[in-house]
Amino acid sequence: MGPAATPREAIRDAIEARGPITFAEFMELALYGPGGFYQTPPVGPSGDFVTSPHVHPVFCELVAAALRELADRLGPPSPLRLVEVGAGDGTLARCLLAGSGGLPISYTAVERSHGARTELSTIEGIGVRSELVPPFDVVLANELLDNLPFRVLRGEREVRIGLDGDRLVEVLAPAEGGLFTSDATDRERVAPVGALAFIDTLRRTLERGFALLIDYGGLGTTGGPVHGYQGQAIVEDVLADPGTTDITAGVDFQLLASYARSVGLVAFASVTQRDALLALGLDRWMHRQLEGQRRSMEAGRGTEAVRTWSDRSRASLLIDPGGLGRLRWMVLATPGLAPPPWLERAWDRSRAHARHP
Ligand SMILES: C[S@@+](CC[C@H](N)C(=O)[O-])C[C@H]1O[C@@H](n2cnc3c(N)ncnc32)[C@H](O)[C@@H]1O
Repeated sequence: MGPAATPREAIRDAIEARGPITFAEFMELALYGPGGFYQTPPVGPSGDFVTSPHVHPVFCELVAAALRELADRLGPPSPLRLVEVGAGDGTLARCLLAGSGGLPISYTAVERSHGARTELSTIEGIGVRSELVPPFDVVLANELLDNLPFRVLRGEREVRIGLDGDRLVEVLAPAEGGLFTSDATDRERVAPVGALAFIDTLRRTLERGFALLIDYGGLGTTGGPVHGYQGQAIVEDVLADPGTTDITAGVDFQLLASYARSVGLVAFASVTQRDALLALGLDRWMHRQLEGQRRSMEAGRGTEAVRTWSDRSRASLLIDPGGLGRLRWMVLATPGLAPPPWLERAWDRSRAHARHP
């Protein structure tokens, strides 16, 4: 028998060899194995889903502002040694390299997808690797954590993936100890083994610096069930056609923060993307655009005014409380570093609307 050519074959071979596999093993093969979903970058307007860097370049302008304040906290030497993990098709990298607003950056993109690495290597001025290699000062990851393999629990049992004829099916097995707190309800819970391993790697490799991690999720909850994306639509049954759909679940930032603290990192309280981007000046950017739109109207340049209006509408998607604005930004640091001012301003914003919801 030759090597499996498709995720479905690889998953079937694994189950036939070892019995029902964990959800994490299933994700590993479906997303990152031969023919897996991430073999070529699937993100972008013509792909399966879009992420913030694809929505509007002001995202990257404000991430650059956030990085500048992290660089200020670190002090010399320059340039800032930045590593973007899970850099995908390089949209954020291109934009940050082109306009990091005077901040000198030495940029390394880390990707486990061969197709993504090929695309990233066409960007001038960037180093491309398949794993984190020190030294570096700041790690940036947008929508990485929710795609790292996780295990799934239901009540006191673990969901494994088995076979029923040709179909992949859920099989409930006794849950192991350790991470797997028992829960008498049949509520589905996620044990983020991949994200925890990533934090271990950060602890080992980040000598002095920060990590800015941006992802969907909640506090004390993942904020929703396991699901996928295909062709810009949500997929509920992620077992039906492995390799053709993303597989994700929101990240429990409270769990990740306490794990990061337990291994010796500082985890500052996370904030929503809405609060982060507003603290970084998105409201001022919007105001400038609105002024420009008014001036265009007054000067009779209608097409220009409509273009600015549509630009503003697009950028506002980044802070939509029902969409990308729900993403959370979490900053981890090595001990002894103060939080950046933008994060303190974002905390003020979230405290203010906790008082006046
Ligand atoms: C949802 S995509 C996000 C891509 C990009 N950051 C963006 O915002 O458009 C997640 C990316 O993380 C990559 N990835 C997953 N696990 C990884 C790992 N352990 N190391 C590096 N990259 C990884 C995937 O190949 C994929 O390109």
